[in-house]
Amino acid sequence: NLGIVNIPVVVHVVYSNSQQNITDQQINSQIDILNADFRAANSDASNAPSEFAGLVADSEISFTLSNVFRHSNSRAEWGTRDDVKYAYPPVSPSNTLNIWVANIGGGILGYAQFPGGPASTDGVVIAPQYFGDTGYVSAPYDKGRTATHEVGHYLNLRHIWGDGRCRQDDFVADTPESDGPNYGCPSYPTVNCRSNDMTMNYMDYVYDQCMYMFSEGQKARMRTIFMDGGPRTGFVN
Ligand code: ARG
Ligand code: ZN
Ligand code: CA
Repeated sequence: NLGIVNIPVVVHVVYSNSQQNITDQQINSQIDILNADFRAANSDASNAPSEFAGLVADSEISFTLSNVFRHSNSRAEWGTRDDVKYAYPPVSPSNTLNIWVANIGGGILGYAQFPGGPASTDGVVIAPQYFGDTGYVSAPYDKGRTATHEVGHYLNLRHIWGDGRCRQDDFVADTPESDGPNYGCPSYPTVNCRSNDMTMNYMDYVYDQCMYMFSEGQKARMRTIFMDGGPRTGFVN
């Protein structure tokens, strides 16, 4: 039994203007949201329809901010090919979650590396206007759920639709199949395959205010990576 797994977090703020140099308060708001969402302490978890209410999971994973590094750089957009990570390498990635807060460009909110990838690029990248819920934030992605989603990937979760059509698996038994992402704020029930979609799952593509749960199956999949032989045992040893 692993108990609560605590993840130390280092934030690299990379900015080309003063707005992007987000405040400590904005950074702390995001850490608080990660802690609420991964412990099912978010107030909106109670919105789950009865079909899914019993599946709302406290993942027993928590986050502690250990350091913030700030870097001024004239580059305005960093893309999704890890340039920002090569410019500012991760700190102790075997036992630290590195988050780069940098403008990606192309309307991209964030991206993540799955467990088992190269240490030199391990972590997640989030654009500053989608990080936290106060300060320089942009609705409807202003509730800090981009980081919740990306850290879900970092902890081995796939998109809720399995990145394929109906029947394509996300390797989690209790998340219903779907045929693609849901957007906006879907009404319940939303049906695309043979069952109601779990559109309110953090691993769908809906607005921040319309996603509010991980499932018990997702919890089990995340926690497996910390167990013996798994790709993220560094956080528990
Ligand atoms: N498009 C991004 C990804 O696939 C993030 C989506 C985040 N969604 C949100 N409501 N914040 O990784
Ligand atoms: Zn994603
Ligand atoms: Ca599933």
